[in-house]
Order: sequence, then structure tokens, then C-alpha cells
Amino acid sequence: MKVVIANLKMNFVTAKECDQYLDTLNVAWKKYKNLDVVNLIVCPSTLFVERFAKKLPDGVILGGQDTFWKARGSFTGETSPESLKDASVKAVICGHSERRFNWHETDEQIECKVAAVIIQGMTAIVCVGETQEEREHEDTATVIAEQVTVALVRVSLEQLPKVIIAYEPRWAIGASITPTTQEIMQIRILIQKIIVKKYGAEALEKTTIIYGGSVTTALMDEVCVHAHMDGVLVGRESGNPLELLKMMDALV
Ligand code: PGA
Repeated sequence: MKVVIANLKMNFVTAKECDQYLDTLNVAWKKYKNLDVVNLIVCPSTLFVERFAKKLPDGVILGGQDTFWKARGSFTGETSPESLKDASVKAVICGHSERRFNWHETDEQIECKVAAVIIQGMTAIVCVGETQEEREHEDTATVIAEQVTVALVRVSLEQLPKVIIAYEPRWAIGASITPTTQEIMQIRILIQKIIVKKYGAEALEKTTIIYGGSVTTALMDEVCVHAHMDGVLVGRESGNPLELLKMMDALV
């Protein structure tokens, strides 16, 4: 199953703004036909998760943008993965590059988040990607290999369908540049090799690998379809539901 993930970030900050977005999505969704081949996961900010749970169209999957790894306790300001599950969240972004960069999240912390999300029966959307500096030093493959390997430490073969790996080079996020089709394909192959080494060849069909970073409808062929990726993680453009549906169509 292909997937388009909308990361709304902190771009809709009032209930009114959320409702306008949901209204547009609901109208557009009525005309959408390819529900059995492409999933749409929408990740609002945590405060609006319950609002989205009530108002998302049937068939659209509710996602979270982040979680803490502990389920309960004295962790002021954090969100429990159990609370997300209780609020009908089905998938949670772990280790988005903005969290790695602004909050200095480490591979080990992200691994804890992945494990916590999966224990709750939700899907972990694991973001991996190199910085501009790492790219210039030709460290991309080493960095991605480390990030993927650590993120999957506690994930079993049976749990692998509960993981979506999103390749999101930091330098392409919120920018206007993207890697070439060839570069994205190479990362896909690298991630597949790590999966095969750890779980065996049978794991490949259980693995979902997507691309994220400056995705637009016009770029879908270049960054996703021709690179044989299983979908996209969309930031800025996800603010427009109509574009999301066009991206889903590009995957059919
Ligand atoms: P962008 O963000 O599409 O705005 O580059 C992608 C992301 O942050 O996941």
C-alpha cells in the first residue's frame, strides 16, 4: 500500500484554522476514488489531535507529530504514546529532522520512541536523513545506515509492517531543492540492504520506504514514482488538501 503523509507541523494554530482545513479536505475527499491503493495519514499538532479524530473524513488515518517514550509519569509537558493511541492516533512521526535539530534528539531517544509507538500498536514513521554538512563530507550512507539500524533495534520481523521509513535529507526540508531520482533510489537500496541483513529477504515486502523534503505534486514522479519509493512525507504542501489528493493520484 502506498502512502502520503501530511505533516501539518505548527502551521494551523487555532481551532478555526483547523476546521477550515478539515472542511476543504472533507469536500475534496468525497470525490476521491483510489482509497484501496493509497493511504493518507494526516498529522496535526498534538493539541488538535482529538479535533481531527472527530472531523477527518472516513478513510483518512490520524497521525501524530511526535511522542514521548514513557507511557506515564512525572514528565512535565510531554505527551504519552498511550494518550495518542487513546485519542485514535494510528501512526506517529519519530525523529523528524526538526526535532533532531532543534531539540537535539538522538538516535537512541528516537529508538525509544519507535519502540513505544509500536508497543501501543501504532505505526512508527521513522525519519532519517543527512545534513548538508554530512552530505558535503560524503557521509550520507554512513549516517543513514546508523539512523536506520538504531531505530530498528527493538523492531521484530513481525512488527516491520508497523514501520514506515521516511528518507528526508535535512537540507531538502523547507527548502526548494531535492535530491535527484538517482540519489533517492540509492538511499532506498541502502535501507533495503540494512533490512535484508537484519531480517532476511522476506522482510522487503513488509517494508515501506518513502521520501520527504520539498515535495510538490509536480515533483512526484522525480522524487517518488521514478525512485520506486512507496510514498511521500509532505510538509508545506500538505497545507493544501487538494494537492495531497493529487499526490495520491500520482501514486496510483
Ligand atoms: P517540506 O517539509 O515538505 O516543507 O520540505 C517536509 C517535512 O518536514 O517533513
